[in-house]
Amino acid sequence: MSRSAELARLIRERAGDRAPEYGLILGSGLGGLSEAVEGVAIPYSDLPGFPHAGVSGHVPKLVLGSLEGRRVAIFGGRAHYYESGRADAMRLPLEVLRELGCERLILTNAAGSLRPEMPPGSLMLLSDHIAFAGTNPLIGEPDEARFVPMTDAHDRDLRAALTAAAGAEGIALPEGVYCWFSGPSFETPAEIRAARVLGADAVGMSTVPEIILGRFLGLRCAAISVITNMGAGLSDEAISHAHTKAMAPLGAAQLERVLRRFLRG
Ligand code: HPA
Repeated sequence: MSRSAELARLIRERAGDRAPEYGLILGSGLGGLSEAVEGVAIPYSDLPGFPHAGVSGHVPKLVLGSLEGRRVAIFGGRAHYYESGRADAMRLPLEVLRELGCERLILTNAAGSLRPEMPPGSLMLLSDHIAFAGTNPLIGEPDEARFVPMTDAHDRDLRAALTAAAGAEGIALPEGVYCWFSGPSFETPAEIRAARVLGADAVGMSTVPEIILGRFLGLRCAAISVITNMGAGLSDEAISHAHTKAMAPLGAAQLERVLRRFLRG
């Protein structure tokens, strides 16, 4: 039995057989939604091969259960490329999600804004992304399945449903392009200017490898950024991880409302 099949078996033993309709990966300071789920929480430490999710602001547990009447699997805590140098750090959790029968993946992250009209506290729905970190989680993948088309990486139907949910809640959810930097250092002002020229609207250190892996595994994907700061050089505020964590709750409450409305359908 493969590692992911073995873990899926273990998870089903604890949380039951029903396939999650949605997998959600929650970004820094955005873990609150998992507390609202009626179901079973499994610490990553009980799931051999799951990342330790060592970044503060992340809660390393998998929660399976019901939220707004939908069956969900919430990953509170992700592994980032910058922790290990491995862009495929989230591969096993995503393989397990697929193994559990899930077909849709919603990702959230904290990001820096490149657009003055998207200040800290606002949300952005990813219309597309730029994999600027210069690596790919599928490097080394042996067969032709590795040539994953990315034209529709950010699923049209999921985006439309998220946009409708935000509209129903009266919350602005502009679409924009997310540019993936490796981190862990933040960008320089010159890099932020370069990202703007390239067509980015926000920058961050996550999500893109998970979208690539998600598409590889046949998951339909969509992602929302919570803007925690303006990109380096675009404002006078100092950029830091502490600041990111402090600012995330500002947008997190709105994000939760959008996601709950989205799940209610
Ligand atoms: N850059 C990269 N990642 C981030 C930022 C940023 O400005 N803010 C939150 N995550």
